[in-house]
Amino acid sequence: MKNRTLAIALCLLVSTAATAQGLVYVKAGHMVDVVDGKMRADQTIVIRGDRIERVASTSSIDIPAGARVIDLGNATVLPGLIDMHVHLTGDPDAQGYANLAASVPRNALYGAANGRRTMNAGFTTVRNVGAGGYADVALRDAINNGDVVGPRMRVAAHSLGITGGHCDNNFLPAEYAVSSGGVADGPWEIRKKVRENVKYGADLTKFCATGGVLSKGTTVGAQQYTLEEMIAIVSESHQRDRKVAAHAHGTEGIIAAIRAGVDSVEHASLIDDEGIRLAKANGTFLVMDVYVDTYILEMGEAAGFLPESLEKERQVGQAQRNNFRKAHAAGVRMAFGTDAGVYPHGNNGKQFAYMVQYGMTPMEAIQAATVNAAELLGWPGDVGAIESGSYADLIAVRGNPLEDIRELEDVRFVMKGGEVFKQW
Ligand code: ARG
Repeated sequence: MKNRTLAIALCLLVSTAATAQGLVYVKAGHMVDVVDGKMRADQTIVIRGDRIERVASTSSIDIPAGARVIDLGNATVLPGLIDMHVHLTGDPDAQGYANLAASVPRNALYGAANGRRTMNAGFTTVRNVGAGGYADVALRDAINNGDVVGPRMRVAAHSLGITGGHCDNNFLPAEYAVSSGGVADGPWEIRKKVRENVKYGADLTKFCATGGVLSKGTTVGAQQYTLEEMIAIVSESHQRDRKVAAHAHGTEGIIAAIRAGVDSVEHASLIDDEGIRLAKANGTFLVMDVYVDTYILEMGEAAGFLPESLEKERQVGQAQRNNFRKAHAAGVRMAFGTDAGVYPHGNNGKQFAYMVQYGMTPMEAIQAATVNAAELLGWPGDVGAIESGSYADLIAVRGNPLEDIRELEDVRFVMKGGEVFKQW
């Protein structure tokens, strides 16, 4: 009898130790609760495997012997950040004509290096909005398989666009016969292109609703695709359970894209009152890359951007920042997105200061890069918040980002799925 009791007791002991061993306790002097919009003191995050099991005040948690403890002291812990507009497979050092020299496999390998840089900067999830040759699909799968280090990715594969538009490659004359993989004209070609993207692994659809800054020969403010074509893109994508992101700088193109039912408008530089009203009424997210203007105007010439691109940037850059302020004040939903790839990967966090300068509170800017972004991704409950059930994607900074948002430019600790990628 005695032996039996002892055996049971031993069994219990062993099993507690075994579960405790599977657990990680992250102790945070401060934690940004992005769901309630509050800073909380002395929190402990309990992690089992790749998910968060529990979050509670440190004094209320008994840490069992054998458990792994990561004590982040007085640091501030936040959910892993999310950038909704990146091109990981883009090499920022090769712009304009230099860009033509990189093959798809070479770009995929740039992507591996850029994924690591992006993670190191505290971005544990990204939405990759366009890549050639399914390089983004391959990168996402390699990251998921643990072959290379990088953020969780949602990928668009080929960006859809009209012949000769911003999402086509117009750098070479006709005899080279270059056309981008996502070119599709007319509703049926469009539907086929969306189906093709889905077939080869796209998680969402990206298309060009207007001209752009960095393309050759496009008018940045001019609409591309008709409303009918945009409706075809959205209906085909939504039928396949794929969200839609529309690149749009120009006023009319923004309005048409919102009317067609896109989930987010990227850039949204020249959005007017009607666009703001429609975005609000439809719950459309704006993803406004309000940092990159500074980089393009300061570094653009040296980086190899075409002179016409620099000229176009001057047309939209400041206007975009002013309209960011207006749209935010009007209550339009915003998600954080930077267009990293145009500027060097890993500097994504620099955009926060601009969002605050143009009207957001630091908490709102952080929410744009966490809870809001998670909703637009279609991953709420998995990423973008420190709550039970979510992936254990955590970052830490030294000071208080609610007092100085630039703390987010210096992320000191990064954990993704319970695994530490950057040690404090
Ligand atoms: N990829 C975008 C384009 O070529 C970059 C726009 C950058 N400028 C800006 N102000 N957001 O159109």
